[in-house]
Amino acid sequence: MAEIQKKPVKIMETVLRDAHQSLIATRMPTEEMLPIIDKMDKVGYHAVECWGGATFDSCLRFLNEDPWERLRKLRDGFKNTKLQMLFRGQNILGYRPYADDVVEYFVQKSVANGIDVIRIFDCLNDLRNLETCVNAAKKEAGAEAQVALSYTLGDAYTMEYWVEKAKRIEEMGADSICIKDMAGLLLPYKATELVTALKENTKLPIQLHTHYTSGVASMTYMKAVEAGVDIIDCAMSPFALGTSQPATEVMVQTFQGTPYDTGYDMNLLAEIADYFRPYRDECLQSGLLNPKNMGVDIKTLLYQVPGGMLSNLTSQLAQQGAEDKYYDVLKEIPAVRDDLGQPPLVTPSSQIVGTQAVFNVLMGERYKMLTKETKDVLLGKYGKTTLPVDADLQARAEKEENTKAIDHRYADDVAPELDTLRAEMAPYAQQDEDVLSYALFPQVATDFFKYRDAQQKKVDATKADTENKAYPV
Ligand code: CO
Repeated sequence: MAEIQKKPVKIMETVLRDAHQSLIATRMPTEEMLPIIDKMDKVGYHAVECWGGATFDSCLRFLNEDPWERLRKLRDGFKNTKLQMLFRGQNILGYRPYADDVVEYFVQKSVANGIDVIRIFDCLNDLRNLETCVNAAKKEAGAEAQVALSYTLGDAYTMEYWVEKAKRIEEMGADSICIKDMAGLLLPYKATELVTALKENTKLPIQLHTHYTSGVASMTYMKAVEAGVDIIDCAMSPFALGTSQPATEVMVQTFQGTPYDTGYDMNLLAEIADYFRPYRDECLQSGLLNPKNMGVDIKTLLYQVPGGMLSNLTSQLAQQGAEDKYYDVLKEIPAVRDDLGQPPLVTPSSQIVGTQAVFNVLMGERYKMLTKETKDVLLGKYGKTTLPVDADLQARAEKEENTKAIDHRYADDVAPELDTLRAEMAPYAQQDEDVLSYALFPQVATDFFKYRDAQQKKVDATKADTENKAYPV
C-alpha cells in the first residue's frame, strides 16, 4: 500500500494579537507577554502574530505604551520564530488612506524593528490599494508580503471571483495568500471547495484565518487542511473560541498521527496555556472579558454580519435609546451594502455600511442623509467596489460634494505627507518612528508623547533603529 505523503500543517499563533483584540478589546499589555515568549519561541510555530491591527492604537490610547518598543522587546525574545503583523493596505493601521511615502516608511520601519511577515488587506479587495505596501515589503531583505482576500458572501463572490483575485495576487509578487474570514462565514464544505480551487490555480502557500463566532471554525480548518491549506491561524486555548480563533492545542491534537501532524510538543503547549489561564480569569473578573463573547452567535451566519459589527450596532442603538430597532437595522444592512456595490464587511467598510443603515432606520426614511464616508465610497475614494454602486446615489454624492467620482487609485491624488508631519511633531520626537505614530493617530500620539515626557521616559537609543532614516534608502 502506498504511504500517504506527509504534509504537516503549520500554525500561526494569534494569542498576542487577534485573540486579545477579539476577546478583550486589544488590552493585553507587553508585560503580560514577555514572561512566556521564551517558551512560545520553542514551539516551532510557523509565525506568531503580535503586532498591527488594533494593537498600535491600543498601545498609545489605552496602555500608555510605545508600540515600537513593544515590537523591539518581542523581537528580542523571539529568536527563532517569525513575527507577523496585520496591515490595512493604504490605510496602514489607521482609518483613512495615506500618501505612499507614509505607507512605504511604515513598512520599512516595521521590518527594521522586527517584523518578518506583513499581512495586507483591503476592505474592497481592490488590489491597487495593496500595491504600494507589497512593493515596499519586497524591497526589505527577508520580509514576506502576504496578501489577504477579505472573505464574504453575496452574488458577486463566486468561485471565479476568488480564483481571479488569487491569480492577480500571485502576479503582484506576493509571497503567500491568506483567506481572511473575519466574520466566521466560511463553512466547512465551502472551505474544501475554495481551498481546492485556489490550490489548483496558484502556486503560492495558502493560509486560512477565521473566527469561532458562528461555531464552525474548527470543522472549517479540518476540511481546509484536508484540501491542502498550508497554514491555519489558531490561539492558545485560554484566549481561543468565541469571537477569537480555534484553539491551538485542539488543532494540534486533531491532526496527531495523521499526515498533517504538526509535531508540536503538547506538554510545552500545556505549559503555555497554564501561563495564560490566570490572566484570562483576571480579565473575566474585571469584566474586560465578556462571557457573551465566548458563546456561539448564529446571527453572524443568518445576517452575514461580523460579530464586532453586531456589538457596535447594539451600542450605537442603545446610545439613541432605540434598541427596539435592532432587527430593522439588521435587515437594512444588506440593502445598504448592495447600494454601495456589495463590499466585504471589514474595517472600515463594516462601520460605513452599519452607520448608514442606522441612519436610514432612525430617520424613518432611506438616505435622508448620506454620511461623509458613504459619499466617499460612492465617489470611489476607497477604491473600486465589487459591483457598481447605485447610480442615483452616486449622482447625489457628486452633487452634494461638487466633485466627480474617480476610477483611479485615490492615493495617486494624495501629495507626500512625511515632511509636513515631521515638522508638526518635531518637539516630541525621540526616535524616527515617532512620526509614524503621529501620522496614524495625531491626537492620541501627541497625548502619549506628552505622557512620555512627563514621566521622563526615554526611548532606548541602543535598541531604536537609526539606520533607516528616510525612505527609500
Ligand atoms: Co481576525
